[in-house]
Amino acid sequence: MRRKIVAGNWKMNKTFQEAEDLLDELAGRLNEEQEDQDVEVIVCPPYLYVEMAHDLCSDEDDATQVYYSVGVQDVSEHDKGAHTGEVSAAMLSSMDVEYCIVGHSERRRYFGETDAQVARKVEQLLQNEITPIVCCGEQAEDREAGKQFEVIGRQLKEGLFNLKPLDFSRLIIAYEPVWAIGTGKTATPEQAQEIHAWIRNQIQEQYGKEIARVIPILYGGSCNAKTAKDLFAQPDIDGGLIGGASLNADDFIAIVNSFDK
Ligand code: PGA
Repeated sequence: MRRKIVAGNWKMNKTFQEAEDLLDELAGRLNEEQEDQDVEVIVCPPYLYVEMAHDLCSDEDDATQVYYSVGVQDVSEHDKGAHTGEVSAAMLSSMDVEYCIVGHSERRRYFGETDAQVARKVEQLLQNEITPIVCCGEQAEDREAGKQFEVIGRQLKEGLFNLKPLDFSRLIIAYEPVWAIGTGKTATPEQAQEIHAWIRNQIQEQYGKEIARVIPILYGGSCNAKTAKDLFAQPDIDGGLIGGASLNADDFIAIVNSFDK
């Protein structure tokens, strides 16, 4: 069986106090309300709150009881040096960050991030024992032109398929159709499943059956407490990368509890 994962991408939201309140509430309520302990919950706040997120993620008296894992939303493609404003994978690792989103469509679109940069960021993360959550997905016009497979195929090939099999097997992939992100227009379960199955098939062609079978592929794009259940019930959808609905505990916990029992 594949891992079940729900990751919250807070993007650029929450002040320090708001972040503390939400992290605190999440820890307490996940402890009591998470129905399936096999679901791995990841919270990706802004960098500034990583230490606090880490402090609050586990039981004070029993550090083995972890309510959520801590991730971030981006990393530098460089290892260190004169890159003002950047944060390196080694720094993240030294702060016990376990996961990092890479190649989010907002980074690709507004910051011009390329597949080659995605490849370098993934490499930095893997060298520092951080699990990359690598995003791919088509824009609305790609889908209208029937080019979704071509676009996603290129993102996979140029961003990821240079990896050695063992390294590739450490990734989490997130399919996020750009037209669904923050728009309230979730992909239908069938639309999402079609792409997830296709991605898994591409992985199988590149790396073989066993790796394709174990790689978690998450869905992202207006996934919420109402839509998560049907999405997560699809055979190739292993959970979600959640933006807006990760900003309040009720919605996020409902999504964590949306896998088939
Ligand atoms: P959304 O964002 O859930 O707000 O659509 C998802 C994402 O961008 O990761």
